[in-house]
Amino acid sequence: MTRSPEDHGARFDEKAASYDDDQESPEYRRAMELVIASAAPGPEETVLDVGTGTGAIALALAGRAKQVLGRDVSKGMLDRAREKAAAEGIENAEFREGRFREPNVTEPVDVVVSNFAMHHLADEEKREAMSVIAGSGPRRFVLGDVMFFGEPDPEEPFFSPEVDDPATVGTLADALTDAGFSLTGVERVHDQVGVLVADRAERAERSDTESEAGTDAVADPAGIDGETTAGTASEGPIVPDEGGTASHEE
Ligand SMILES: C[S@@+](CC[C@H](N)C(=O)[O-])C[C@H]1O[C@@H](n2cnc3c(N)ncnc32)[C@H](O)[C@@H]1O
Repeated sequence: MTRSPEDHGARFDEKAASYDDDQESPEYRRAMELVIASAAPGPEETVLDVGTGTGAIALALAGRAKQVLGRDVSKGMLDRAREKAAAEGIENAEFREGRFREPNVTEPVDVVVSNFAMHHLADEEKREAMSVIAGSGPRRFVLGDVMFFGEPDPEEPFFSPEVDDPATVGTLADALTDAGFSLTGVERVHDQVGVLVADRAERAERSDTESEAGTDAVADPAGIDGETTAGTASEGPIVPDEGGTASHEE
């Protein structure tokens, strides 16, 4: 069951003070690494981080981009993000209220990232959000989140059914495709956690010239081929088959 953005905002207001200290799971850390590496913004690019929380991803990308826009529904989480930016002397990260389906962004965006946040929306709302986000013109959308690669193991839930509504990888891939993106990378971190990389075909030429990392970042999103992360099960890139559904590349 999903809750309203206001409910989620209030929930995360209460968690804001301890949120960063609570993020110890290797799956969360691995997804975060992959999202940051796959985003690969160029120095003149604008990044939008939706569901930015305390700004973990936004602040990590600020040094590589022209500017980073962090959006969230929780004032408490946004306050923490601003405090961290000030403490780190980061001046090109702007944190404001904004929602997946109303991100409160007027400027063109080059790269959109979102980590462990979109699962708060129902599947139809995720589709709407992807369509709205596509409207800001990004060349790349990197989505790290709880997502199902198969039947979720009820003994090892990665989500709370009363507040979360994760989608299957296929549903997310279809929604990204329908929003005008092509799925260019899938990283499975765990049966219930993954990172999807989607690029817009019509901006591919522009991205090649603007991004430092280009598409290399997708083939090895973290740039750490061969390394292992404790407790994680990344199985390398998975590419979409012709029908747009994810399948494993041996
Ligand atoms: C689990 S936290 C993840 C925060 C951050 N992305 C990270 O990786 O640590 C989920 C965040 O999503 C935000 N959120 C929930 N629903 C949202 C919505 N509809 N629009 C924007 N943010 C939302 C919450 O307020 C919370 O800060």
